[in-house]
Amino acid sequence: RTFHIAAIPADGVGTEVLEAGRTLLDALAADSGGEFAFEWTDYPWGTDYYHRTGQMMPDDGLDQLRDVDAIYFGAVGAPEVPDHVTLWGLRLAICQGFDQWANVRPVTFHPGVTSPLRTIDDTSLDWVVVRENSEGEYSGLGGRNLAGRGPGNEVAVQSSLFTETGCERIVRFAFDLARTRQRKVVTSVTKSNAQQHGMVLWDDVFARVAADYPDVEANSCLVDAMAARFVLHPEDLSVVVASNLHADVLSDLGSALAGSLGLATSANLNPERRTPSMFEPVHGSAPDIAGKGIANPIGAIGSAGLMLSHFGLHDAATRVRDAIDATTAAGVLPADLGGDATSKQITEAVLDHLETA
Ligand code: NAI
Ligand code: MG
Repeated sequence: RTFHIAAIPADGVGTEVLEAGRTLLDALAADSGGEFAFEWTDYPWGTDYYHRTGQMMPDDGLDQLRDVDAIYFGAVGAPEVPDHVTLWGLRLAICQGFDQWANVRPVTFHPGVTSPLRTIDDTSLDWVVVRENSEGEYSGLGGRNLAGRGPGNEVAVQSSLFTETGCERIVRFAFDLARTRQRKVVTSVTKSNAQQHGMVLWDDVFARVAADYPDVEANSCLVDAMAARFVLHPEDLSVVVASNLHADVLSDLGSALAGSLGLATSANLNPERRTPSMFEPVHGSAPDIAGKGIANPIGAIGSAGLMLSHFGLHDAATRVRDAIDATTAAGVLPADLGGDATSKQITEAVLDHLETA
């Protein structure tokens, strides 16, 4: 079967790391004996496009993407354009426009990569942060200068939106995912002591849904305590489900504990498969290292692996995971992991390990 993939490298290191993942996917397809193939369409959207047109993507951008099997995304962001313009103009426009309501962010510990945390010496640790990706704190509701007051006295409101349907679908997703894992534990994260409306609704839904999954251990934790728990009791965790903002922060913390943000993978899923899902490294455009050829491509390559799983190509996905582990175990590490391998050298090492897998 041929899978049609839309590539949107966008900005900064996004373009560099996407190239790496694409090389790998093409190598796997060539090696599949005709079982699967990829057809790519490139979309040159992002900050350069914005400078030319005043928009991050064209008005009919979502329509152009609607029929692809998946979107492979790099990163947006450039120092000269406000981040909320680049983020809302492209990445969030796709996530929200296609109702990719489940953002799955595995936190994977790789052999040969040292965690900054001395308590983590066990590369068998394996968490998945499940992020509500359609509402919550990133609903976009609110506005500036609401009271019409003058400069120096402005009022801005940024509202969080929690719907029972939105909470229930992400919580069920987390429990269903936990059922497929060795450690069947779901930890729900909120700040319902301070945010007494939306987050209490989330807690209520979590308790109700948990009753449908007697085979999965369910527990809840406040987000501030959870940040400490990530560091102090990492072995307790398996699936962590949280709102848009909380899961965004916790997944970055998780990836740093696993060694680097450059390793972190993510899938923005529309689980009903009505619209395309999007696969991307968690990191941003990293303008501080862009153009140097030293970006860590592992997050992007691992995200391509998540795309393979989404396509049902589980053997190929396993080969990608194993090849990444073999590469880090052999000490082929990029600068952010304390090594001196370039993006290209790492990609080649992963390719070599695919051959021998
Ligand atoms: P960032 O993720 O781009 O960089 C944070 C730090 O991690 C930097 O020191 C960077 O060099 C390092 N880093 C990131 N990816 C790396 C990789 N693959 N290999 C090695 N080191 C890596 O986040 P930052 O600096 O907060 O934001 C930069 C721009 O990216 C901003 O414009 C921001 O809005 C945007 N951004 C976009 C995201 C997306 O498109 N999904 C996500 C996060 C930020
Ligand atoms: Mg983030």
